[in-house]
Amino acid sequence: MKIERRPTTALIPNPVVLVSAAGRGPGDAGNFLTIGWVGTVCSTPPMVGVAIRPSRFSHGLIAASREFVVNVPDARHLEAVDVAGVWSGREHDKFAELGLTALPGSKVGAPLIAECPINFECVVRHQLALGSHDLFIGEVVATHYDEEVLDGRGRLKPHAVHPITLVDGEYWSLGERIGLQGAAAKARGK
Ligand SMILES: Cc1cc2nc3c(=O)[nH]c(=O)nc-3n(C[C@H](O)[C@H](O)[C@H](O)COP(=O)(O)O)c2cc1C
Repeated sequence: MKIERRPTTALIPNPVVLVSAAGRGPGDAGNFLTIGWVGTVCSTPPMVGVAIRPSRFSHGLIAASREFVVNVPDARHLEAVDVAGVWSGREHDKFAELGLTALPGSKVGAPLIAECPINFECVVRHQLALGSHDLFIGEVVATHYDEEVLDGRGRLKPHAVHPITLVDGEYWSLGERIGLQGAAAKARGK
């Protein structure tokens, strides 16, 4: 039996990322915030979307610079992820206070967070006002991986990354591999 509830956006699993943006001038390392509303939206060109409330300090930074970086944190950084989702860059230097390292991007002015094993440099191509959130759709112009999370052939080792997912107010990590993409279709002769 199905139980109908009020409309929600409780898609699971939903990754939790840190989205960084350039600061407002020399000597400003930039800022980042925790984002749960993030997703892949296009392959060619490669695009990701992040939904940010206009009230966030980061919203103004990204709207002005038209650039951001999606940083995939490891579960080891859960404390920083949680705090960055409460503190605002208006009152805090989150890089310094949370002990994270800003690295210059190769293609954008927004900083990479060095401690995050995967970083996507993005240029804003669209900004959509959806309601509570604005959706920034960014074209990924460079992707960076810690070498420890890649195998000898340059492929991502999923077990080397411990991404964080948000489920109804709780942080969870991923479990074990349960299959290979296309295997079931192949078994049926496709
Ligand atoms: C797990 C988690 C997920 C969040 N997801 C979003 C989100 O998708 N969009 C958003 O605007 N704020 C989100 N927030 C809230 C912001 O991270 C928070 O308001 C932050 O302090 C804003 O920082 P800023 O003012 O420096 O930009 C989330 C917070 C947490 C803890």
